[in-house]
Amino acid sequence: MALCNAKAEAARGLLEEFEDEIKEASVVGVGTGSTTALALREAQRRGLLRGKQIVVSSMATALLASELGLKPLMPNVVDSVDIYFDGADEVVPSTLDMIKGRGAALLGEKILAYNSRVRIYVVDESKIVDRLGSKKPLPIEVVPWALGFVLRELGKRGLEASPREGSGKDGPVVSDWGGVIVDISTGPIEDPRRLEAELHSIPGVVETGLFLGLADAVVVGKKSCGYEVLRSGGRG
Ligand code: A5P
Repeated sequence: MALCNAKAEAARGLLEEFEDEIKEASVVGVGTGSTTALALREAQRRGLLRGKQIVVSSMATALLASELGLKPLMPNVVDSVDIYFDGADEVVPSTLDMIKGRGAALLGEKILAYNSRVRIYVVDESKIVDRLGSKKPLPIEVVPWALGFVLRELGKRGLEASPREGSGKDGPVVSDWGGVIVDISTGPIEDPRRLEAELHSIPGVVETGLFLGLADAVVVGKKSCGYEVLRSGGRG
């Protein structure tokens, strides 16, 4: 049996299934990560991004966009985004709720997703889970000088958390937006909305990697080749 690169299949699925939406868009938002990068490269190769404003969620994506001959814009210079595409770390198929932030870009990604008219995610099938938190830790972004307090508050709530260690740098990972990334080992999360509210109630927590009601569709690429498109019932 032929084996495919499931991430590339997801990227192909995005460009096939949402070609019209991309063509009609004036402003295209781009997330972060390896699957998003495949989709961005392929969209540019197919000429789908000609004449469009490209707004990026991270420095990594800005650099890739520049390398591809695009002129990336930071989110503060556009009023809204017509279509946004991004990857994810975990997806629950029945709700399209997600965990994101492996690449520490969750804040820019959430700002863009929230402000985009159509939000499409591209994932390989390994990202599908029954419950968020089953496979991956939940990243959050924290104001640096509140780190000690936030860790203590998380501990009081029985949440095991630690600042993500950088590589190529001593000390914690600092995001493009200046916050420290903390990974919480939640295990399978019973009530993601309750956890989201609880985390946001802690002063110093800037944003969480829980993306709830922020996906209109998820394109799932298969190792056995092909893809499946999961669609949401509506904006959450
Ligand atoms: C970046 O912070 C993340 O949210 C990525 O979008 C997510 O980790 C998906 O990345 P891959 O496509 O590389 O798996």
